[in-house]
Amino acid sequence: MSLVSDIIHTHDIASDFEGYCFANQLSHCVFLVDENTKQFCLPFLNSTDVQVIEIKAGESFKTYQQLENIIAKMSEFGMQKNSILVNLGGGVVSDIGGFAASIYQRGIRFVNIPTTLMAMVDAAIGGKNGVDFNHLKNFIGVFNLPQAVFISPQFLDTLPKNELNSAWAEIIKMGIIYNEDLYNDILNHQSLIEIIKTCSTLKNEITALDFKDQNIRQLLNFGHTIGHALESWYLSIHQPILHGVAVAKGILYEIDLAQQLGYLNIQDANAMKATIHKQLKIEAITEMEFIGLKPFLKKDKKNHKDGIVFSLPTAIGKGKWGIEVSLENLNF
Ligand SMILES: NC(=O)c1ccc[n+]([C@@H]2O[C@H](COP(=O)([O-])OP(=O)(O)OC[C@H]3O[C@@H](n4cnc5c(N)ncnc54)[C@H](O)[C@@H]3O)[C@@H](O)[C@H]2O)c1
Repeated sequence: MSLVSDIIHTHDIASDFEGYCFANQLSHCVFLVDENTKQFCLPFLNSTDVQVIEIKAGESFKTYQQLENIIAKMSEFGMQKNSILVNLGGGVVSDIGGFAASIYQRGIRFVNIPTTLMAMVDAAIGGKNGVDFNHLKNFIGVFNLPQAVFISPQFLDTLPKNELNSAWAEIIKMGIIYNEDLYNDILNHQSLIEIIKTCSTLKNEITALDFKDQNIRQLLNFGHTIGHALESWYLSIHQPILHGVAVAKGILYEIDLAQQLGYLNIQDANAMKATIHKQLKIEAITEMEFIGLKPFLKKDKKNHKDGIVFSLPTAIGKGKWGIEVSLENLNF
């Protein structure tokens, strides 16, 4: 089995997707959209007469209940082994749609068409699919690759500015912990199209090296131990925050942690933090946020018996995974 998906970069999604369906004899496609991607993105796909499953937008709806609704609709539309689910949306749509396709009738094929920057550089690639459960991020899910990922920057024109900005957290994360060239591209204001191509290639590369997240892929969890706990806390108080914002705050905290633990020198730590502040205009977590997120750290699915597990940078473009820290040693 191939451990990467085909990534097709296009500026003409309608004809490239149509050509792909024809070449792969895909006669029964069902689109999964949310209320925004139905309005802003579906029209790009010559989509009259297609079957569409619509979900509510946002992280609060990346739930088990929503998953059941999707599966009920898939069944109503008569989807079978040779049908294909097309996830047209941001990371919420590709995460839940990929999961639905993976478990429906023990698995049918799916394609991701990311419509947010977050999904183009990260979420739609790599085959991690799932939903949140009791506010715990991605607590239920499966590893399963999309058959293909179509990346078309034309969708970004309608994406709200705050959504576009927050995705830079994942881009900078990839640069800091895995690829110094990407980090330098960010500092040198490389074009967004090139940044998307680099990130999607790197995500595919790291997925192929470690599909099931057992070693090197864990580097990409940098910022997410704190970030996911923060996101879970905000979900639990019904004030969801953007995934990218939570990750950026997590990165800032985890850079300091790396320095305190002696993995990272102060110059590199300051340079990394300055890049985050400049690109995202995001401040460090507050004491109130730290108190709120702490109970969720205990439930992180990466945890080992003895502690909370982090992936931390050791220099620009390099990192170490599997670092355990006991909860008591994490300070504000
Ligand atoms: N599976 C993975 O490897 C992975 C990696 C990173 C993030 N994620 C997950 O991705 C999710 C975050 O993804 P996201 O930031 O894309 O959020 P999202 O899917 O919630 O999309 C953000 C918002 O933008 C709207 N939108 C999407 N495309 C649009 C467009 N072209 N024009 C106008 N509005 C548009 C959506 O309706 C939504 O309101 C989180 O659940 C996170 O856990 C998964």
